[in-house]
Amino acid sequence: MNARVLIVDDEDGIRFSLRGILEDEGYEVAEAETGEEGLKLATETPPDLIFLDIWLPGMDGLEVLDNLRTADASLPVIMISGHGNIETAVNAIKKGAYDFIEKPLSLEKVVISANKALEYYRLRRENQALRSRLTQSTTVEMTGNSASIVELRGQIGRVAPTDAWVLITGENGTGKEIAARSIHASSRRKDKPLVAVNCAAIPEELIESELFGHEKGAFTGAETAKTGKFEMAHQGTLFLDEIADMSLKTQAKILRILQEQSFERVGGHKTVKVDVRVIAATNKSLEDEIAAGRFREDLYYRLRVIPLVVPPLRQRGDDVMLLIGEFMNRMTAEHGFRPVTFAPDACSALLCYHWPGNVRELKNFVERMLIMHSGQTVTAAMLPPEYRCAGAGIMPQPCTAGPSDGMIPEGVMDFKAARTAFEARFLEAKLQEFGGNITRLAEAIGLERSYLYRKLKSYNIQTPE
Ligand SMILES: Nc1ncnc2c1ncn2[C@@H]1O[C@H](COP(=O)(O)OP(=O)(O)OP(=O)(O)O)[C@@H](O)[C@H]1O
Ligand SMILES: [Mg+2]
Repeated sequence: MNARVLIVDDEDGIRFSLRGILEDEGYEVAEAETGEEGLKLATETPPDLIFLDIWLPGMDGLEVLDNLRTADASLPVIMISGHGNIETAVNAIKKGAYDFIEKPLSLEKVVISANKALEYYRLRRENQALRSRLTQSTTVEMTGNSASIVELRGQIGRVAPTDAWVLITGENGTGKEIAARSIHASSRRKDKPLVAVNCAAIPEELIESELFGHEKGAFTGAETAKTGKFEMAHQGTLFLDEIADMSLKTQAKILRILQEQSFERVGGHKTVKVDVRVIAATNKSLEDEIAAGRFREDLYYRLRVIPLVVPPLRQRGDDVMLLIGEFMNRMTAEHGFRPVTFAPDACSALLCYHWPGNVRELKNFVERMLIMHSGQTVTAAMLPPEYRCAGAGIMPQPCTAGPSDGMIPEGVMDFKAARTAFEARFLEAKLQEFGGNITRLAEAIGLERSYLYRKLKSYNIQTPE
């Protein structure tokens, strides 16, 4: 789309020559003879750039400039000044005009100034958009209207103002980190840092130094002293992500800090006191890790003062479409794609899909759709095969995840894999139907309770206890 330029000047000759130059450059041009008329036009159809004469009959250029900048501070204005009023032009720049050009107009100067102004303001707007996205991604809110997400938001709201330690569990990509950030953001520690540590990403031999810091010369390679994450998070929050991947030795140290709120740096003797709130997260079952001897039971009970469970996406019903809409808006604004719409059969398929990678997978899915089908209506047949799980085109409306042939992911040929897929979806749907009551579910489907419990665990289906 061509940029729109508005010329406000009472001299016919100036308007005429400016129009000629700008139209040759491919701009769309509008004209006004007076300041009042210019303001009216600028409000009715906002231009991308304004050329504004300083001396105008009635409302003069500086006054028009003031009005324009109050209405939209990001609109570039180039002043047109006669010989005698350079000083006024400089004044206009101080008031926020982008540039000024002198009469008689130089064709070259007009073109350069217009192009530069438009580019500058485009970058400025882009920069503002990026900044606001940056603050958006740190002011975190868990999107969703499903009962489980509404409840989780309520729990977060209640736990945030306290100093209690929190243990967040949930499958990959469900939003555990978002939950942790949103607790911090609504806590009294919000102006202090939230320091995140991914325990799985740090080599075992470095994790202690990472968490507690080290003194100079503490080990080979420790050429300078280093502040650990616990100290960095002083008065703030430490987010220990993937906590199940910590060694037993580190777990013992963490437990001690919890009890004493103090520790020693690696290779040091001085006790460091800190005031830190810990939020831990994991996608593993810590109960299983304890049973396998890989996680300390005492630490587990200390950490899970407040246990929070982020539900998998497939248990959030219509939130799937809500999240698709949200990511679509964000990505179209960011990358200039035209939005994709989904036909009813595609919606049914997406609502029934298992989403093993949860919200992260959904985000990637939206990006993929925008790249492949920008501006189109996507039908079930156009979805990637793995997303056509609900028997695309067969189901007229969102399915209720009941047992049906449609529950078996397309493309599964192997009998055992098909049976597993069916069992997992069946048990998950049924467990939900029975409000998470394993005993009642076991009775209803004719299984031993302990057998059912083990089955649920083996499929990584969240159970209430
Ligand atoms: N409710 C939500 N609303 C908006 N975006 C979300 C929501 N939940 C998750 N996301 C986005 O999905 C992605 C994954 O979320 P996050 O990193 O919090 O998940 P996680 O549970 O910590 O994943 P992992 O187990 O892989 O560490 C992120 O890009 C996050 O911004
Ligand atoms: Mg995470």
